[in-house]
Amino acid sequence: MIEETNENLDVVRAQFGANAEAYGTSAVHARGASLGRLVELLHLNETLKVLDIATGGGSVALACAPHVSTVVASDATPEMLEVVTRRAHDDGVTNLQVELADAHDLPFGDDTWDVATCRIAPHHFHSPDRFVAEVARTLRPGGLFGLVDNVVPNDVNVAAFANEWERKRDPSHARCLSVDEWLGLLVANGFDVEHRELMSKEMGFSWWCDNMSVAGETRVELLDELHAAGEQIHAFLRPQFGEPVEQDTTVFHLTEVVLVARKSD
Ligand SMILES: C[S@@+](CC[C@H](N)C(=O)[O-])C[C@H]1O[C@@H](n2cnc3c(N)ncnc32)[C@H](O)[C@@H]1O
Repeated sequence: MIEETNENLDVVRAQFGANAEAYGTSAVHARGASLGRLVELLHLNETLKVLDIATGGGSVALACAPHVSTVVASDATPEMLEVVTRRAHDDGVTNLQVELADAHDLPFGDDTWDVATCRIAPHHFHSPDRFVAEVARTLRPGGLFGLVDNVVPNDVNVAAFANEWERKRDPSHARCLSVDEWLGLLVANGFDVEHRELMSKEMGFSWWCDNMSVAGETRVELLDELHAAGEQIHAFLRPQFGEPVEQDTTVFHLTEVVLVARKSD
């Protein structure tokens, strides 16, 4: 298990280390609608200690910082933490620290945090179960967990296509779960789910490939696969192709779930 974790982390670090700047400033991450919605749903105040897991460019941590006592922005990729440190410095944020941390093995004591967040990252984790257990361990009783991630439908064929297609773009992609799978994991780890909603986001095909420095021939394969995919896959990803079909005019849609869950007292 430890070897598998390390192998997975090596791929994550290679992918995100090489693309840290693009992720730090990408519109979907720095300004996506789920960012403001998540912060709003957490009802933050100046007494709270917040942990943001797999912080990437630090967008959630930076959005929380003005409203809370302290925030720790954690990530497994050192280059991402350099981006967060620079953004915090540029924004004059003084109550944010960074910490190198694997989401499966958080380097924090039991019952440490009032709030834990993790946005658009668990699809990289090889064990979502272990991740949720670590959040439950490190949150204080009554603490809040705000989770946002891309999800797949319950239909196994659509889910398999969406996950394989994404993995071809980004080898560090593990798996998007369905909403039902997330709800099951949260309940099994002692959380009461207080809020859930779905949000749709439009993705430009070329931008999506640029973010992970996808090679030209792989882009062609990805576009062909999307174009040739069946009706149910198109119903989920809602692609729009230009005429003629080409990368720059193609868009599709991903679905994010926003969940807020409270650790039982
Ligand atoms: C898409 S970015 C996160 C976006 C960010 N949370 C936001 O809201 O803008 C994914 C991040 O997950 C991190 N990551 C992937 N696997 C991880 C793991 N096992 N533990 C911690 N961080 C991980 C990557 O290093 C990367 O920075």
